[in-house]
Amino acid sequence: MPGVSLVGSGSACLTVQLTNDDLSQRVDTSDEWIAARTGIRQRHLAAATDSLSSLATEAARNALAMADLSAEEVDLILLATSTPDDLFGTACQVQAALGATRAVAFDLTAACSGFVFALVTAAQYIRTGVFKNVVVIGADVLSRWTDWDDRTTCVLFGDGAGAVVLRASERDRLLGFELCSDGSLNHCLNLAYQPETAPLVGDINVQMGTFSPITMNGREVYKFAVSRVPEVIEKALFRAGLTTADIDWMVLHQANQRILDAVADRLGVPSDRVVSNMARHGNTSAASIPLALDEAVRAGKIQPGDVIATAGFGAGLTWGAAIIQWR
Ligand code: UT7
Repeated sequence: MPGVSLVGSGSACLTVQLTNDDLSQRVDTSDEWIAARTGIRQRHLAAATDSLSSLATEAARNALAMADLSAEEVDLILLATSTPDDLFGTACQVQAALGATRAVAFDLTAACSGFVFALVTAAQYIRTGVFKNVVVIGADVLSRWTDWDDRTTCVLFGDGAGAVVLRASERDRLLGFELCSDGSLNHCLNLAYQPETAPLVGDINVQMGTFSPITMNGREVYKFAVSRVPEVIEKALFRAGLTTADIDWMVLHQANQRILDAVADRLGVPSDRVVSNMARHGNTSAASIPLALDEAVRAGKIQPGDVIATAGFGAGLTWGAAIIQWR
């Protein structure tokens, strides 16, 4: 059975920055409150000329360059997103923009767990021998669906895109994983469709609604994250035949610095092994893990052979962990 190697990472550079002080001009909040409760100091926003597909394409292009792989060699593009340009799917626009003419491309939606779910999905295609070269992208423009007058949510989110390249290899570097869902908790975090009935003909109606901005029960999601994330990482480690002592880096979904600290504490992972870009990016949903990974790789922190415990968690509710070895 072919193994899976991660051979490149990339991210998009977003130039618009929104600081906590900027936000305090819009809602009743402060830099002190946001920094103390979340660790966030600023976040990036997509510019008016950006699209989800342009950001995803930039991240993918940078990951392909690091992997030294041409777009024509890509077999599959998996785009994890909850904020598509097109509800029919955005991955094909990325495929066209990259010039990945041989690739099949589709979207996968699992909110902030989307990147981990897509990584594991991509790995199955490689392990079965169907595809050799896969680009996995996590990208979200949550600013499109944020209620900018709701201080309990708007301070958390930012826009971003990150990507990795997976290749078939002799040695398998996806060492273990575990994925979970619990739809009974769906109401805790929503970007839900709101139907509006419109008359069509006679007594036949159609639903012509739209999506309403993000709503969240922050305390419930917080409790869920600090209990479920350590558990799912331990399960993935067990499948890998490893223990927490083997973790070189933890690259978790960047939701809240307090969540990162609590997870590290429960697992006994030293804080200097926890990758965090919370302060600069906030919560970028499906983008947060590949973005944090790419920054740590390019900063020379993550080195070839390092064991990385990664975990996503969020709406669905969904959560999942993957233990990977870099390159
Ligand atoms: O991708 C996964 C998605 N989401 C998450 O991971 C979020 C998980 N949850 C959290 O990160 C935290 O629950 C929050 C950061 C959202 C909130 O922090 P908290 O410590 O749980 O605060 P809280 O909701 O208990 O609110 C404490 C107080 C409240 O005031 P009262 O009722 O005590 O008077 C809030 O109204 O803080 C108030 N508050 C704020 N104050 C200033 C809530 N948001 C703000 C704000 N600025 N932005």
